[in-house]
Amino acid sequence: MSPGTGAALRLLAASVDAKAVAEIGTGTGVSGIHLLHGMRPDGVLTTVDPEPEHQQFARQAFRASGFASNRARFIPGRALDVLPRLADAGYDLLFCDGDRLEVLDYLAESLRLLRPGGLVAFEGVFANGRTVDSGPQPTEVLRLRELLRAVRESQELVPSLLPVGDGLLCAVKR
Ligand SMILES: C[S@@+](CC[C@H](N)C(=O)[O-])C[C@H]1O[C@@H](n2cnc3c(N)ncnc32)[C@H](O)[C@@H]1O
Repeated sequence: MSPGTGAALRLLAASVDAKAVAEIGTGTGVSGIHLLHGMRPDGVLTTVDPEPEHQQFARQAFRASGFASNRARFIPGRALDVLPRLADAGYDLLFCDGDRLEVLDYLAESLRLLRPGGLVAFEGVFANGRTVDSGPQPTEVLRLRELLRAVRESQELVPSLLPVGDGLLCAVKR
């Protein structure tokens, strides 16, 4: 994740005064640390990843960055198995950095999970320029194009595509 994307995540978390954030794709915890910095001091990050080793690494990274263990809830599993168990309108921000083939499902889940005024963000929507490349593209790039279209056309969302890093697609739920 680029420093610019990290700074944008901090800003976004702070701008919605985030107390509850859900993250798809814990990875090594880089995005989680940025989100935690922007959230309220009593905020909790719920982060989902099917790879236990990734979550273990992130847990250590959060601790090394000075965050108490009760600031993060690690849920092992695939997003589409876990998200349906999370509370309706229970989240201020949803950050999506998991499986690009599933981004349209993440968008549908975000509309259920976010409170009005909450924000959804998708990392990497430029796909290294392939999203706007007219040549043949793999399914994951086609899915990103569908996501961009769906967010732009949604009556429920106020979108903006931030040109930081590999593209951060953001939208506020009305
Ligand atoms: C690009 S990395 C995330 C990087 C992370 N946000 C960071 O800043 O360190 C993508 C992560 O998504 C996870 N992942 C893949 N498929 C997933 C799924 N279906 N649901 C949730 N996470 C998934 C991978 O295991 C990987 O850790």
